[in-house]
Amino acid sequence: MFSYDGMRQHVLADDEFEILQQIVLESAGIVLAESSRRSLLDYISLRMYQLHSGCFRDYSERLRQDSTELLRLINAATQSYATFCHDKQHFRFITATLLPELASNPRQELRFWSVGCATGEEAYSLAMVAHEVLPGAEEWEISITATDHDAEALARAKKGIYPLSQVRHLPARHLLRWFRSLRIGNDEYVQIAPQLQQSVSFRQLSLLSDWEHPEPQDAIFCRETLIYFDMPKRAWLIDRMADSLVPGGYLFVGESDRVEAYSDRFEAVGGAIFRRLE
Ligand SMILES: C[S@@+](CC[C@H](N)C(=O)[O-])C[C@H]1O[C@@H](n2cnc3c(N)ncnc32)[C@H](O)[C@@H]1O
Repeated sequence: MFSYDGMRQHVLADDEFEILQQIVLESAGIVLAESSRRSLLDYISLRMYQLHSGCFRDYSERLRQDSTELLRLINAATQSYATFCHDKQHFRFITATLLPELASNPRQELRFWSVGCATGEEAYSLAMVAHEVLPGAEEWEISITATDHDAEALARAKKGIYPLSQVRHLPARHLLRWFRSLRIGNDEYVQIAPQLQQSVSFRQLSLLSDWEHPEPQDAIFCRETLIYFDMPKRAWLIDRMADSLVPGGYLFVGESDRVEAYSDRFEAVGGAIFRRLE
């Protein structure tokens, strides 16, 4: 009889992980990073228990035949714990350079796109700094579009409720202005203030689909998301994101994303930030 505890002591063997990598790459063009192996083991253990799968082979066969099951696995592999104002270098650049540059723009409209927004922390952080830094922000149309293919993550993002522990590192003035405290049972949570929620719209979008370009964006944030794609899809996506930016607009990526290796349409600004050439 299959036991969940027994499976948890099992280690995802090299050949099993390779089978998963192959299935996900062939069917979705997504590269499963070695760093996702540990968290995948927990997810797969639980899933095999729920499905009464007797062994890894049964489970991998199911993945090949059942696209919903495959999507669940991809979501589990590409989800990671996010925090507010996570990338310090990025947020320093946004407050010191990007927002002051935009502030001189008479149209008083700001458009940011958080690509692969997961549970929304990045999108709300962007709304927070835009409202804080732009002079006369209440007069501005601040529009943060946040997209992901994971419907469950988006539903959580829309609610805007997070454990208190996730925001403790923020300055008190941010906490007081942008979050409401909430108690659920014995646990403490915070909920995003309505003014911030109004600036952020969440939408389901698969980056591998033939998505329509949004209105030209002042900046696109694509941290820790390109890593899930193989090289041709990365090049394709970076090119499409260039088309979705205003000339001179900024692309923010993860530390290891080498945009210059895939496109000559950007100049590096430093700190995983790239500026679209005119
Ligand atoms: C590690 S999270 C990045 C979170 C966020 N960008 C940040 O830095 O806080 C990666 C996100 O990419 C999303 N993702 C992966 N593949 C995708 C695809 N093909 N289309 C849309 N979203 C995808 C995942 O659902 C996940 O939420």
